[in-house]
Amino acid sequence: MSKLFIISNRLPITIEKKGDKLSYRQSSGGLVSAVSAYLDQEGQRTFTKKVWVGVSECSEQEWQTVSDTFTADYDFHPIFAAQKTYDQYYNGFANSVLWPLFHYFPSYADYQPQFFEAYKKINHNFADDLANQLNPEDTVWIHDYHLLPLAALLCKRNPKLTIGLFLHIPFPSYELFRAMPNDWQHEIIEGMLGADLVGFHTNDYRDHFLNCVSKITQAKVQDQIIHLNGRQIKTGAFPIGIDYDQFNSAYNNEGVVAKRNEHLHMKQDKKLIFSVDRLDYTKGVFSRLKGYREFLLQNPGYIGKVIFALVVIPSRDNISRYAERKKIIDEYVGNLNSRFGNIGWQPVVYQYGHLSFDELIALYTACDIALITPLRDGMNLVAKEFVASRKDKRGVLVLSEMAGAADELPEALIINPNDRKEIGDMIRRGLEMPRAEQEDRMAAMQARISSYNVVDWARDFFNRLKDAKAGQLQLR
Ligand code: G6P
Repeated sequence: MSKLFIISNRLPITIEKKGDKLSYRQSSGGLVSAVSAYLDQEGQRTFTKKVWVGVSECSEQEWQTVSDTFTADYDFHPIFAAQKTYDQYYNGFANSVLWPLFHYFPSYADYQPQFFEAYKKINHNFADDLANQLNPEDTVWIHDYHLLPLAALLCKRNPKLTIGLFLHIPFPSYELFRAMPNDWQHEIIEGMLGADLVGFHTNDYRDHFLNCVSKITQAKVQDQIIHLNGRQIKTGAFPIGIDYDQFNSAYNNEGVVAKRNEHLHMKQDKKLIFSVDRLDYTKGVFSRLKGYREFLLQNPGYIGKVIFALVVIPSRDNISRYAERKKIIDEYVGNLNSRFGNIGWQPVVYQYGHLSFDELIALYTACDIALITPLRDGMNLVAKEFVASRKDKRGVLVLSEMAGAADELPEALIINPNDRKEIGDMIRRGLEMPRAEQEDRMAAMQARISSYNVVDWARDFFNRLKDAKAGQLQLR
């Protein structure tokens, strides 16, 4: 009986406390949406039991109270951590060292030794907690930068276990990676090498990783396989997909149609530009607003005839780099609206909060342009979701070349997020693109992303993982 353990920092549900009342909602972010879509669709056929392991944000007692109401056909296994340690691991090492460094914001990294200690401690907590649950025939799939040392901790205790690791964010070039203290570099790379297969979104990220392995360890790297201490570790690029049908078929859902009609009614004959991101300095929201400003300056004929619906989802607001970003966006939106707006029209309609699935699809399908301008992004699933949602084959995707998704979506209007003039020009081009061209571009992008959806992504990863483990066992 083989079990699958999905291991990530965040569980697919986030528990919210309002006074004494506990409730839960689906967590935000690409990792959760992709992996839960995979588990909902296919996991049962391949594994007899599926368990998602992640850190609980509430106490053990609170977890008991709310967990009865969860509905999913897999189990949740919470890891409980002391608040201070969790804070130094999550807000500290994961999101104030690894996140900025891996997204090419080295000046935002805060190399505090206690952050690294807490990071190791939480990874050990996961390994200790799992020790009694794992059998040698089980498969463990570790996700993302919060848990890079975990593969080696599990492999040491249970070398027969099949262990996959997938990184959902970019892996940076060695020149960035080496900015971390040497012993941190070693522990992270050696931790990752406990896996049988290490997966990335793109070939570039994988090559950066292999280069770091060669520079930092004694391993020999040949044909993208790492040979170290009698083990061989495989690597690969697996561009994550989405649940294409879920997005494509939502076009005619009753709730979506009603909300879309509200938006269409609100905008009347104006054009609608839409974007949605977690609040994060990597997402380029500020660059996008500057590009939009440039567009309005260069194209005064559009004043009063276009609306930018900007949705920003709260995220990591205990970290000052995130809180300050909110202030900057709030101010810039205010300035734009007062500079260009009038009593009857505002150039930016701004929402800081979560969107339901129906609201999201309604906006994806009501807009003329989806404007996605990250400064650096592992993949960017919003771009793929927008394309999949456009059953009508209308709408234009304006996409940053810094998103992993740009490799698969060359029919988008590709921009450099630091070039506000280019963003402004592409907004205009998108708004004026003939219908037939919109349809051609959309059809080509849809064909590509529907042929490698989230289930294909996971299946591909598992097939390669099985081979990698078989190769590993033959070496013994
Ligand atoms: C990115 C990361 C995920 C993370 C998500 C949301 O997509 O790759 O690991 O879960 O952001 O961020 P959060 O810090 O809220 O989990």
